[in-house]
Amino acid sequence: MRMVFLGPPGAGKGTQAVMLSERMGILHLSTGDILRENVKRGTEIGKKAKSYMDKGELVPDDMVIEMMLDTIKSGDKEKGFILDGFPRTLYQARKIDAELEKLGLPIDMVTYFKTSTDTVISRLTGRRLCKNCGANYHIKNMPPKKEGVCDKCGGELYRRKDDSEETIKKRLGVYNSQTEELIGYYREKDILKELSGDSDADVVYEELFVNSHFQRRG
Ligand code: AP5
Repeated sequence: MRMVFLGPPGAGKGTQAVMLSERMGILHLSTGDILRENVKRGTEIGKKAKSYMDKGELVPDDMVIEMMLDTIKSGDKEKGFILDGFPRTLYQARKIDAELEKLGLPIDMVTYFKTSTDTVISRLTGRRLCKNCGANYHIKNMPPKKEGVCDKCGGELYRRKDDSEETIKKRLGVYNSQTEELIGYYREKDILKELSGDSDADVVYEELFVNSHFQRRG
């Protein structure tokens, strides 16, 4: 099963991708996570990407496409994968579709997390992540047992630099102007499934699992 998760920042794509990829035994490939890892390690990609990410702008298309293709080719891709936050422009979508066709690995399903702006802002301003293992929390919706401390590994929780209100607004603007048009692109290909990203995480998860199960059998 090869899937794309599409939706505004804070729609819950990463939260769901972690759970579904574990349950289905497939790869979770998040452009945001891979880019942040590169920034942390100080690689060439990381150095180039950092200023775009801090401002809430998209990293240049060709750089992201090459990085994701390399990641797909080098991973255990046969069982399947979830592309989380990629593609994000029409150019990225057309290019990755063509490359995946060549590899005999076309996308089976695109899930669009339709989510309101109010939800997105409250989710992102309350998001906290573990510095050590990357686990994802929300100060109200999914709080850790002990404030500021990761339940899984005891690591320190932090707030992403691009989760400030100003940068969230910028990211939403970028999503509306450059990414939203992918909904129509995938709808025309007849592989788009839409769900409400505003719902509780377990409700979203059940719908997602049922959709992917039927898509796989079909
Ligand atoms: P990226 O890391 O991909 O950020 P994003 O798309 O803005 O998405 P987020 O990670 O913010 O949100 P999410 O939908 O995963 O939500 P989450 O599950 O965490 O990208 C960062 C930057 O990298 C970009 O700005 C850009 O610069 C660059 N980049 C990345 N991809 C690129 C590309 N393809 N091309 C060019 N540049 C690229 O949930 C949010 C919060 O809500 C959490 O706290 C969570 O606990 C909580 N939550 C989740 N679901 C629920 C629920 N159902 N109910 C209640 N709370 C919930």
